[in-house]
Amino acid sequence: MASYKIFLLPGDGIGPEVTSEVEKVAKVIAGAGLASFEFEKGLVGGSAYDAHGAAISESDMALAQAADAVMLAAVGGPKWDKVPYDARPEAGLLRLRKDLGLFANLRPAVCYPALADASALKREIVEGLDIMIVRELTGGVYFGEPKEIIDLGNGQKRAIDTQVYDTFEIERIAAVAFELARKRGNKVTSSEKHNVMKSGVLWKEVVTGLHAKSYSDVKLEHMLADALGMQLVRWPKQFDVIVTDNLFGDMLSDVASMLTGSLGMLPSASLGAADANGKRKAMYEPVHGSAPDIAGKGVANPIAMIGSFGMALRYSFGLGEAADRIDSAISEVLASGFRTADIKGEAASSISTSAMGDAIVAALQKAL
Ligand code: IPM
Ligand code: MG
Repeated sequence: MASYKIFLLPGDGIGPEVTSEVEKVAKVIAGAGLASFEFEKGLVGGSAYDAHGAAISESDMALAQAADAVMLAAVGGPKWDKVPYDARPEAGLLRLRKDLGLFANLRPAVCYPALADASALKREIVEGLDIMIVRELTGGVYFGEPKEIIDLGNGQKRAIDTQVYDTFEIERIAAVAFELARKRGNKVTSSEKHNVMKSGVLWKEVVTGLHAKSYSDVKLEHMLADALGMQLVRWPKQFDVIVTDNLFGDMLSDVASMLTGSLGMLPSASLGAADANGKRKAMYEPVHGSAPDIAGKGVANPIAMIGSFGMALRYSFGLGEAADRIDSAISEVLASGFRTADIKGEAASSISTSAMGDAIVAALQKAL
């Protein structure tokens, strides 16, 4: 039986609570003899800053590099609002993405039938929704230089961020999107702002070129990012795979999350390039944040985190069937009426983080 090293980074806020539920789910998968997991835990974000003055330590970076997969829950909170910019909680997350070379961020937005009424949109608009946002994760304005605030000396300051993309960065993320589309609805929508940005002009040109060269069997359309934001809330089921840059992907995936009912539902996978053995560095994290307002209360929704573990099974460990079982267990538990507070809707009551984890574990145990 294959054994995998998983490096857990619970982080801040609700992070530790939702991470505990993943450990329960992993036990069930291991118990069924599908794989065994070796867990190691580290610190990232504010908790790492409190412990050693940096958003992630060098030794934890080394453990992340050595792991078969990293699972990160969430970072940040008002407690760290005043820490130096380079040590702010988010810096730990960005360093992991950059140093591990995790350029491809997969953010599926699936609306479980039982939750169609929890969405802010009408049931017919979101029911059966299944889209995949492919966000470029190691380039663009997040990392472009210069990135600074200059004192102009006349009482004015100037802030600069740089949006920059090279051909290879666009090509490799577009290839990920086309490959995924072939296994799904065979359609890619590429999004940028070529009407105002040079990076958008190049993005469109490179995606079009790659499509013609290697993926002409996939349907490709281009949509300006503002229009795509509008279409996502107008008729989201027109999309299959959406490929876009780091910043637009950040925004559009938050929009997509609310189609599914709650930010607490969305998992994600961040993947690096395949090495000679086909192995990729990978980090799995829920799209939601650290939710400091509800941290420590045991009411957070663990589904996005559990779904992220499912993505680890699918994309890092070749256990797609087990991942399907986890998705079905989540669907079944929701259909039976179990709700955490964020997806309570009209339900009479809501259950705790650990009760939701236990319900998913019970449904999974039956299915394995
Ligand atoms: C996300 C988050 C991060 C991002 C923050 C926490 C830096 O919003 O993963 O979507 O902007 O990428
Ligand atoms: Mg975001």
